[in-house]
Amino acid sequence: MEKKALESLRRVPEHVGIIMDGNGRWAQKRGLVRTQGHLEGLKAAKRIVKAASDQGVKYLTLYAFSTENWKRTEEEVGFIMGLVKQYLRAEFDFSKKNKIRVRHAGDFSGLPADIQKEIADSVKDTADFSGMQVILAINYGGRDEIVRALCKFISANKEKEDISEKDISAYLDNPDVPDPDLIIRSAGEYRTSNFLLWESAYSEIFISDKLWPDWDKDDLEEAITDFQKRDRRYGGLS
Ligand code: IPE
Ligand code: IPE
Ligand code: MG
Repeated sequence: MEKKALESLRRVPEHVGIIMDGNGRWAQKRGLVRTQGHLEGLKAAKRIVKAASDQGVKYLTLYAFSTENWKRTEEEVGFIMGLVKQYLRAEFDFSKKNKIRVRHAGDFSGLPADIQKEIADSVKDTADFSGMQVILAINYGGRDEIVRALCKFISANKEKEDISEKDISAYLDNPDVPDPDLIIRSAGEYRTSNFLLWESAYSEIFISDKLWPDWDKDDLEEAITDFQKRDRRYGGLS
């Protein structure tokens, strides 16, 4: 096989984004309450963080809570926020061992104060870790991120009248993070649900019917293998 073709077969996506969907359906199928599905979803997230890090992924964005998810019951929202807290606290040793750096994407100021503190502490405590970066998208909406980027741009550049794509990119939540190469959605819905709208312009998309709590490292590997077969043209010719 040609060297170039072989290289592309082995290419691991630098940035993977995951829409972790299907927790509620997983619970429903078993006659359990929805929150039980979120608990299992958290376990799956831990498995996938480890698997992605082992695979050599550099950035992993996990869509954990959207700007629209506040529409759910108070009980469900409270439970998810509690899990976020638990995850951030309990995973520090794992992060340290695997050099995983934690970051946040989304409207931080719209989160409850205790969650803000937990996220800020994790971000700070892992800031020097040089392994994979896990970007937790919590209270995240792609449209909201673009609006906030524009507001930040305008207040920092009062004199400037024109605005470029680069300007918008520079004011997104994590401007140093490259656009996602691969976006995965579990649980079979064919939509973005407001995930990384700006950044996903040329992302490859992988949709699996498997519900998120059932995901393990083989599923991630399948998505990466599928990605490796894609011809990324970016509007040009191959
Ligand atoms: C994804 O699972 C987790 C969040 C959106 C927080 P869902 O809770 O959306 O599960 P389904 O889609 O109802 O099965
Ligand atoms: C997307 O899932 C958000 C997260 C996974 C956090 P949703 O379950 O909220 O999306 P819709 O409502 O099916 O579009
Ligand atoms: Mg859902």
